Amino acid sequence: MAQLIDGKAVSAAVKAEVAEETAKLRDEKGLKVGLAVVIVGSDPASRVYVNNKKKACEAVGFQSYEYALDESTTQEQLLDLVNVLNRDDRVNGILVQLPLPKHIDEKAVINAISPDKDVDAFHPINVGKIMIGEYSFLPCTPAGVMRLIESTGTDITGKQCVVIGRSNIVGKPQAMLLLQKNGTVTICHSKTKNLKEICLGADILVVAIGRANFVTGDMIKEGAVVIDVGMNRLENGKLCGDVEFESAEKKASFITPVPGGVGPMTIAMLMKNTLTAAKQQAGIE
Ligand code: GUN
Repeated sequence: MAQLIDGKAVSAAVKAEVAEETAKLRDEKGLKVGLAVVIVGSDPASRVYVNNKKKACEAVGFQSYEYALDESTTQEQLLDLVNVLNRDDRVNGILVQLPLPKHIDEKAVINAISPDKDVDAFHPINVGKIMIGEYSFLPCTPAGVMRLIESTGTDITGKQCVVIGRSNIVGKPQAMLLLQKNGTVTICHSKTKNLKEICLGADILVVAIGRANFVTGDMIKEGAVVIDVGMNRLENGKLCGDVEFESAEKKASFITPVPGGVGPMTIAMLMKNTLTAAKQQAGIE
């Protein structure tokens, strides 16, 4: 039976580290840390995420600046706001909550954020830096996954790592981070043949495909570390991951629950990136 990886506990530890360093920066250097969070429209899930980000800012001692814009906001108006925030010295990090309304080009908005304030690490400059291993910011979810794997005491070097999912936000950067830790990495996706066979070879399996209960216990190698990035809502209203927990926990050595696994880590790593941005902008790091 697998041991549970407690994302809430690991996330609390990361936030405590950030809070301690933030207090020290304030007391010793008079430095304040600020995150601007921009939300366009009224998507209920985005609203919940943004509220959680604001709460996390308060908890670690950051200033948070919320810009809640109407659904009808034009791309030009949003780009103008991003440019104002790029120049605002109180703002160390800028997060534009995705998805944006259909009439706004997400790429244009991401490209407009100053790479130095891009705490999501979505800007092409930051994506490129991750490829060459010279990054300041790591995208929050894959960075959180690495921290969870680390919390199990697993040494990634030489391990067979399988990532299911190839999104720009999770799958692709996740594969790069595992590679940097000397894993032997395979990326699978919806068109992969022999998926079960490949999964059965995985010592570390990260699942981010966005389909409820997609990976079942018969696809998991005995003793594997299983990280479930999925967050799906079933018809009965229950949340579930991309991994069928009941069958998977019988095979894995460590497994993340949903909720309470990867989810809490994403926000903790966002706080960490915002602190890094503030330090870099102050010439401290
Ligand atoms: N929407 C869902 N996840 C994210 C995220 O990590 N960052 C942003 N900006 N929007 C999101």
